[in-house]
Amino acid sequence: MKGYEDLINVLNSILADELNAINQYLVHSEMCENWGYAQLYLAIHGQAMDEMHHSDWLMERNNFIERAPKVSKLIPVTTLKSIAEIIAEDIDVNINAVNSYNNTIKLANEIYDQVTDELLAIIAKTDEDYEAWNQIQSSQLKQINKENYMMNQALN
Ligand SMILES: [Fe+2]
Repeated sequence: MKGYEDLINVLNSILADELNAINQYLVHSEMCENWGYAQLYLAIHGQAMDEMHHSDWLMERNNFIERAPKVSKLIPVTTLKSIAEIIAEDIDVNINAVNSYNNTIKLANEIYDQVTDELLAIIAKTDEDYEAWNQIQSSQLKQINKENYMMNQALN
């Protein structure tokens, strides 16, 4: 069916974004751990695990609709040099993810696929929460002095 063909293609694209997000968050969390920022490590590593669930759910949905998911669009993770850069990049990923989910929800609604609609809304809410968390970190980095913010993140 034409509508489902479009939806499957978009779901594969979103799946690739989720898999890229896992890689990005794992690299970022390990960098934070290596720098001694235990709190940031725990938070970002937890986000990577949630992105794994999102990927799993998208694969399951794609399989149910018609066919095996495609996972061929992985991109390299950029090596960053500071917490501010990590947070800025993770904000971008989450903003893009929420936009993609909102557009895909519209597509699912056009073909009356309420199950996909509800699944995508749940995932989008989590990614939106992560965007908010990253925005808070970005604000705190600017409002508190950088050394105090970093000291708080280093506490176990
Ligand atoms: Fe996600």
